[in-house]
Amino acid sequence: MEFRLSEEHEMMRKMVREFAEKEVAPTAAERDEKEEFDRSLFDKMAELGLTGIPWPEEEGGVGADYLSYVIAVEELSRVDASVGVTLSAHISLASWPIHKFGTAEQKQRFLRPLAEGKKLGAFGLTEPGSGSDAAGMRTTAVRDGDSYVLNGSKIFITNGGEAEIYVVFALTDPEKKHRGITAFIVEKGTPGFSFGKKEQKLGIRSSPTLEILFDNCRIPAENRLGEEGEGFKIAMMTLDGGRNGIAAQAVGIAQGAFDAALAYAKEREQFGKPIAAQQAIQFKLADMATRIEASRLLTYQAAWLESRGLPYGKASAMAKLFAGDTAMDVTIEAVQIFGGYGYTREYPVERMMRDAKITQIYEGTNEIQRLVIARHLLKD
Ligand code: CAA
Ligand code: FAD
Repeated sequence: MEFRLSEEHEMMRKMVREFAEKEVAPTAAERDEKEEFDRSLFDKMAELGLTGIPWPEEEGGVGADYLSYVIAVEELSRVDASVGVTLSAHISLASWPIHKFGTAEQKQRFLRPLAEGKKLGAFGLTEPGSGSDAAGMRTTAVRDGDSYVLNGSKIFITNGGEAEIYVVFALTDPEKKHRGITAFIVEKGTPGFSFGKKEQKLGIRSSPTLEILFDNCRIPAENRLGEEGEGFKIAMMTLDGGRNGIAAQAVGIAQGAFDAALAYAKEREQFGKPIAAQQAIQFKLADMATRIEASRLLTYQAAWLESRGLPYGKASAMAKLFAGDTAMDVTIEAVQIFGGYGYTREYPVERMMRDAKITQIYEGTNEIQRLVIARHLLKD
């Protein structure tokens, strides 16, 4: 066993941290306030090769592994969780299923521009009536000659409106329930494909979350991803990895809040000495640091397993569950350590606390992670 990161992974952390602190952190509060997505940050990530970290060079990527990818998401989220999820949804949710299930032609047409960061990706599974019960979707896709015609809507789509490439799921055979779901690639600009309401949110406010609508949206049959009826399996397998991207986001948020709280505790004086001299504050810091470290190890373990082609679904769900709860608890404690100042927008910890909440909700709520973990335990 090796608990030290390789030189390559350390270099990835250093590069992304420098980029995050120099280019992302200075505008994070303002973008949060204005609920503004900044495409130029994605373009800069493309220049650094971050948009195609785990894909081989022949697919437009840089040929690194999933551990490099989670380190990148963690470092971005340490300063801005909205930018972290932009990359996570782009790589884990939009690019991964094309990498895994796409034909050679689909990889050249769709994965290459995603990997090179010329296009941004999104993933549409959730509907107004089906969130946790993803198989309960209503959107349909009817085969008509060389096309499929899509009707329905998806809600809460990260990168919605901004993305050019959407991996979406629809019923091709409603009678067969989850076995009648098929995956498709839909391009922005396709007639009948439009954007609905943009959500106003508690946190990750500079990550756009939109409704997407299909009204007799006709797409070529060659945009079908995998076989008819394979869609639910594709969605579930995509989420197995995606959940670890959210675990990394949670680790990053928690680390960012911890770093700020530690520095503040050493600096802020009350009763004639730094508050860090109080054992009550020291114990908070000790618990926060321990939980972050445990979350990071779970997350890196899941990425390590995926990089080696070993089963990682259970590990990924455990990482997301533990890291999401950790991010929530650690950011609440960080605000507490800052006292009244932590409750104001003068310091970043209140934003981090608001951002942390989503990590317990999306890519399967933490109740659903427990369900996934328990099913693995019973099956194993
Ligand atoms: N890999 C492969 N196949 C899988 C699988 C997996 N991980 N999980 C399930 N399956 C297969 C099963 O083997 C089963 O196959 P058969 O048809 O051969 O029987 C089939 O799928 C149905 O499985 P279940 O009976 O377990 O399905 P279910 O209806 O009980 O649902 C669930 C399971 C885990 C609750 C699933 O619905 C789920 O993951 N829900 C949460 C949805 C979710 O995470 N949404 C996230 C949206 S994306 C997002 O939020 C974006 C963002 O963060 C940025
Ligand atoms: P519900 O499923 O209605 O759940 C409500 C509550 O009931 C939750 O606490 C849940 O845990 C609990 N619950 C439900 N079923 C069970 C059960 N069987 N056992 C125990 N408890 C249960 N989706 C996408 O497809 N693509 C995206 O890019 C995307 N991005 C998102 C971004 C944001 C900001 C948000 C808020 C959501 C996003 N989602 C996306 C959707 C997200 O995955 C869902 O919101 C999530 O899966 C929960 O579904 P729901 O909101 O319908 O809640």
